[in-house]
Amino acid sequence: KKRIVSGVQPTGSIHLGNYLGAIRNWILLQNTYDTFFFIVDLHAITLPYDAQQLSKATRDTAALYLACGVDTSKASVFVQSHVRAHAELMWLLSSVTPVGWLNRMIQFKEKSRKAGDENVGVGLLTYPVLMASDILLYQSDFVPVGEDQKQHLELTRELAERVNHLFGGRKWKKLGGRGGSVFKVPEPLIPPVGARVMSLTDGLSKMSKSAPSDQSRINLLDPKDVIANKIKRCKTDSFPGMEFDNPERPECNNLLSIYQLISGKTKEDFAYRMKMTDRDMNWGTFKSLLADALIDHLQPIQVRYEEIISDSAYLDGILAEGAMKAAGIADATLNNVYQAMGFLQR
Ligand code: TYM
Repeated sequence: KKRIVSGVQPTGSIHLGNYLGAIRNWILLQNTYDTFFFIVDLHAITLPYDAQQLSKATRDTAALYLACGVDTSKASVFVQSHVRAHAELMWLLSSVTPVGWLNRMIQFKEKSRKAGDENVGVGLLTYPVLMASDILLYQSDFVPVGEDQKQHLELTRELAERVNHLFGGRKWKKLGGRGGSVFKVPEPLIPPVGARVMSLTDGLSKMSKSAPSDQSRINLLDPKDVIANKIKRCKTDSFPGMEFDNPERPECNNLLSIYQLISGKTKEDFAYRMKMTDRDMNWGTFKSLLADALIDHLQPIQVRYEEIISDSAYLDGILAEGAMKAAGIADATLNNVYQAMGFLQR
C-alpha cells in the first residue's frame, strides 16, 4: 500500500480552510492508503504561544480529526512530539539544508515580517526542515495539503534528493547499509477546489487561524448562530447575481466554492438552480443557502467532537496506539539515516 501522511498545527481553532484543504481529503484517502495523521505540536511553538493552552489544543485537534471522520481502524493518529524521531531527524537534516533554501520560504517571510525580528525564533526559519522530517520518516508517497504548503513540499522533495545523492546508493552500501535511496521522494496532493479557502472579510487573503478577526473564518466548532451571523456579515460585492470564475469577484468565487464543497453540489447543479428557480439570485438568498448548508454539515461533526473530547481515556488510547505504530516505522528510517551518514551504530 502506498503511504500518506499529513498534519495540522494545534494553534487556534481548526477552520473551514483546514477542513476543505486537508482534513476532508484525508477521510477519502484512508480507505485506499496506509495513512498517518499527526497533530504537529512541535510546529506550534515556532511563534510565541501560551504553554497553558498547548496540551488542550493538541487534544482538541485530535478529537476533531476523529469527529471529521478519520477512522482509527484504518488510519494512525498521533502527536508529533510523542514520536521522538521527528525532532531527531530534524537535526540531521538541518545540517544538510542550505540556509538560502529556508530564507526563500514565503511563509517564513510573511510570518517573520508580522512577528517582528525580536520575536522570531530560529525555529520559525527551520520549521520546514521539521516538516520534511515528518514526511520523510515515513517514506511517504503522498502528502495531502492545501496550496499554502506547496513550497514546503518542494523543499521536502529537494532535501530528500539531496540526502539520497550525498549519502545514498554505493556510499551507503560501503557503510554496511542496503544501498539505494535513503528517502522516498514524496508528492503533494492538492485538491482542485478548496486548496485555498479565502477569508470571509477579504476575498484576496486566505482564511487563517492567525487573522485577528474571528469574523474572517468559520471554525469547525462555531455554534449555529455564530455561523449564520458570520455569513450574514461576510464581505460581498455589488455585481448583480451570483456567478462562477469571474476574477473580479473573489468573494463570490470563494463563497460559491465553499458552497459547492459543503453541499456536494457540482457547478452544473448550481448553475441549473440559479437559472431555473432564481435567475437573479441575490446575495441574501445565496447567503442563507450557504449558512444552512454549513450548519447542516458541521453539526454532526460538532456532536461527535463533544462525545470524543469527553472520553479522555479513549482519546489517550488512540494517541498512544498511533504513536507506537508510527515510532516503529520512524525509528527504522532514522536508524538508516544515522547509518548512511556514517554514525557509530549503538
Ligand atoms: P496548518 O496547520 O497551517 O494547516 C493545516 C492544513 O490546512 C491547510 N490550510 C488551508 N487549505 C485551504 N485553505 C486555507 N485557507 C487553508 N489554511 C490552511 C494547510 O495547507 C494544511 O494542509 N506546516 C503545516 C503542518 C505540517 C504538515 C507536516 C503537513 C507539519 N508537518 C507534514 C503535512 C505534512 C501547517 O502549518 O499547516
